[in-house]
Amino acid sequence: MSTNGKRDGFSSTLAALMVALGSAVGLGNIWKFPYMTGTGGGGAFLVIYLFFVFCVAIPIMISEFVIGRRSRLNAVGAFRKLTGNPRTPWSGIGFLGALSSYLIMFFYSCVAGWVYSYTFKAATGAFANITKESAGALFAETIGVGGAEASFFSSTVLAPIFWQVLVLVVVGTIISFGVARGIERAIKVMMPALFALLVICVIRALTLPGAGDGLRFLFHVDFKQVTPAVILAAMGLAFFKLSLGMGTMITYGSYFTDDADLSVSPLKIAIADICISMLAGLAIFPTVFSFGVEPGAGPGLLFITIPLVFSQMPFGQLLLFAFFLLTAFAANGAMLSLVEVPTSWMSEEFNIPRKRAALINCVIIGAVGILAAGSADGSGYFGGISVFGKGFFDLFDYLSSNVAMPIGGFCIAIFAGYLMKRGELFDELSNHGTLHNEGRAAFIRILMRYVTPVLVVVILLNALGIIKL
Ligand code: PFF
Repeated sequence: MSTNGKRDGFSSTLAALMVALGSAVGLGNIWKFPYMTGTGGGGAFLVIYLFFVFCVAIPIMISEFVIGRRSRLNAVGAFRKLTGNPRTPWSGIGFLGALSSYLIMFFYSCVAGWVYSYTFKAATGAFANITKESAGALFAETIGVGGAEASFFSSTVLAPIFWQVLVLVVVGTIISFGVARGIERAIKVMMPALFALLVICVIRALTLPGAGDGLRFLFHVDFKQVTPAVILAAMGLAFFKLSLGMGTMITYGSYFTDDADLSVSPLKIAIADICISMLAGLAIFPTVFSFGVEPGAGPGLLFITIPLVFSQMPFGQLLLFAFFLLTAFAANGAMLSLVEVPTSWMSEEFNIPRKRAALINCVIIGAVGILAAGSADGSGYFGGISVFGKGFFDLFDYLSSNVAMPIGGFCIAIFAGYLMKRGELFDELSNHGTLHNEGRAAFIRILMRYVTPVLVVVILLNALGIIKL
């Protein structure tokens, strides 16, 4: 759609919903949600995350859709048009969004590289007779553990970089050939397939011995372990998961048809997204407890447990291959929307043709992304370097989800809640008065004005230690 430069809108609301879902669903559901729930302590993290999805993420998604459809422009142009001022400081949100996109892509392309590598490994039968120990070793090898002691040109260091570069070549090719539409059509087939495979995983995981402990971990709520950092991480995950605070959904909103109900579409997207994340959680945590993996194992959780889920199952190797292939597709779908943000910003701001802008961005991401590939583990090639007490991989993740996106989301909610006139907002939410949903619109406006921005500020100040919840 937008990647080929035409602004022709979607044929139906369903198509628009599917494409927004294509941006939301990705490694966030299958990789990040389970591992963060694991490190965040299980049920309590889940409850806090869901709270932020409903009270922060959904109002911001509605704001982004409203801004996008009202202006029919991307994040930079939208604010210029809606304020009537070509030099409005609000278009800085577009710049902040481009920054968030880069930060995410630096590490996202690296994790997508691990998924590509696992797809290849599954095809070559590397997971036959896998055990907890060998699964851990395979993951360590995939992410370049011990690279600090190796030369840069050793396979330990270069293998993760190779896969990451391959990811960027694939994403760059899709964009430059303008076949994004085809890919999006493919996502519509892949998404149900991924869903079905996840269901198979869940059934298998739930029938493993000791699966109950995994369910207890996921659903037992104990707020005692919750720290301000955990609360911030849960809020950051809600932003990251639903691709918010960076203009992606403004661009998608600009393609929505006039009869789409913007007050309910975000709710549908969020619920579908939560379902996929929960399926991943229900596949992973029973397996974690059944095989004695550490639930707080961190970013390796998916890569260690999923090969174990399939290890003792008929057609396990084939299903494992399909699982990682579909995950790679979901990651590609999300990445198309990620590269789109700096691409449209760059091409509009500096008048660079879209294709060239997309390619320049893939090169920038590859060049800086190498730092993430070498620092996913502390013993990686760049693992010894720390900035603000974090390695590059964690830093890119932290700055995007916990700083840039919440700030962007705060500004977007303020814009929709305060800068847009009440009548203008209601007009857009009611599709020019055809929907008779004034009560709902009033409720949404209250959230945009008094709940969402206040929560974002309070959580950020709480994490900085300036206030204490
Ligand atoms: N929502 C995606 C995921 O959960 O994998 C990540 C993402 C995609 C974030 C696109 C932001 C974005 F603009």
